Amino acid sequence: MTDSVSSPRDSARNSESVVIFDTTLRDGEQSPGATMYLEDKLQVAEMLDHMGVDIIEAGFPIASEGDFEAVSAIAERTKNAVIAGLARAIEGDIARCGEAVRKARRPRIHTFVSTSPIHLQHQMNKSEAQVLEIIARTVTQARNLVDDVEWSAMDATRTPIDYLCRCVEAAIRAGATTINLPDTVGYALPDEYEAMFRQIRERVPDADKAVFSVHCHDDLGLAVANSLAGVRGGARQVECTINGLGERAGNAALEEVVMALKTRGDSLPYHTEIDSTLLTRASKLVSAVSSSPVQFNKAIVGRNAFAHESGIHQDGMLKNAQTYEIMTPASVGVSKTSLVMGKHSGRHAFKDKLRELGYELADNALHDAFVRFKDLADRKKVVYDEDLMALVDDEIIHAHDRIKLVDLTVFAGTKGPQSAALTLDIDGTHVTHQATGNGPVDAIFNAIQALVPHGAVLELFQVHAVTKGTDAQAEVSVRLAEDGKTVTAKGADPDTLVAAAKAYIASLNKLMMKRGKSQRDVLAG
Ligand code: KIV
Ligand code: ZN
Repeated sequence: MTDSVSSPRDSARNSESVVIFDTTLRDGEQSPGATMYLEDKLQVAEMLDHMGVDIIEAGFPIASEGDFEAVSAIAERTKNAVIAGLARAIEGDIARCGEAVRKARRPRIHTFVSTSPIHLQHQMNKSEAQVLEIIARTVTQARNLVDDVEWSAMDATRTPIDYLCRCVEAAIRAGATTINLPDTVGYALPDEYEAMFRQIRERVPDADKAVFSVHCHDDLGLAVANSLAGVRGGARQVECTINGLGERAGNAALEEVVMALKTRGDSLPYHTEIDSTLLTRASKLVSAVSSSPVQFNKAIVGRNAFAHESGIHQDGMLKNAQTYEIMTPASVGVSKTSLVMGKHSGRHAFKDKLRELGYELADNALHDAFVRFKDLADRKKVVYDEDLMALVDDEIIHAHDRIKLVDLTVFAGTKGPQSAALTLDIDGTHVTHQATGNGPVDAIFNAIQALVPHGAVLELFQVHAVTKGTDAQAEVSVRLAEDGKTVTAKGADPDTLVAAAKAYIASLNKLMMKRGKSQRDVLAG
């Protein structure tokens, strides 16, 4: 390490403190359809740093040029958090990772190798002895590049404990400062996961020289419960993601881990440095840039997490909020407000309202969003919070698009063929096409296909009204699949057909980005 700031390792040695390792930008981005632009990643990293995340896993540098660039840029700009990059136990990966995190104030290399018999036999074709040799060699290489090295035993929870002890011992002896024991396939039960940490810490010589870490996937809906059990077993680092974004069913949700520790300090006497009032804002940002909606009943950050519908609950809440609330909405950044937005609302009120809703936009983005808000307020009697959220999400999602919708005229109705005349801006050049189709949406999509030829298959086309009323904005989601890769994107507009065109164009933009980084998806879990 290059400066004297205290390391998360130091604070983790205090038994009361648990460090938060956020992997939204690595494991989270591996979620189907969640590919993010560089500018979005920078925004997310800034938010994570601001909210007190101890370690940000910024990406997988060997996976693509884009990943390398993102990790380097985040490393260079982040003020407080440790910046980690992921590397397989391969010389070239580790060297590339070391290069990507080089400019961080506090760099970390996170290297991993599989340890379970099923992975050794079917995926790696290596013996136990060979893997032990790989661990010693690659951790040593990483330690020669940085002081802070994390080693992960992929599929640890399906690895026999005796062999896992030997692997952990080899990693610590080679200089690993954090030992992560992931439940890669989401198979463990909480008591098993806790026991695994206890045994490893008891049996491995020099176990106290490293911080132990949990990393849980949610295949059985146990990721957060397992993470907390691992902490009970002695782990002092929790790897998690905003909104639980991640491979398959996702990772442990950061907001749930943090609030469980905060709310149940009586039984879980550990604390984190996270400012929980920023959780809602972080959730919205990640949802928008990854085009991954948060389910309404999601714990902590779901739209209904603090909504009380039944009469008995509402009655209790009016008498004393603690009757049905175990934490306050304000503690996670949800504020109740009566400020109604309309066409006479000024720029200041607009900015305040967005801040209340959890959005902090840079000046240019704020200006563009305000112009769109004025346009919307002219067309719609009442602008609800949901309208503003859809509008700003749309602004954030489409800010970096190479293909943009310029103009659309549709001929629809009972007499076919329906047709669409469409103008797109592609890298600054305007192109126009007219197409017919089996209905107006088909006509629009045919026109887009003619202007942006591609072989992707439309897997999902979904429309929902953002609010009530016939003048409500429509939010359209489109999922495209190409060569086994999927992308999902949204578009919002009071005109459903315009929203459909925007969503389709947005998913093509994402697909173009995804093509550039397709190598990554086969690399890690
Ligand atoms: O789930 C997993 O095992 C991983 C490792 C790369 C840490 O994500
Ligand atoms: Zn994982």
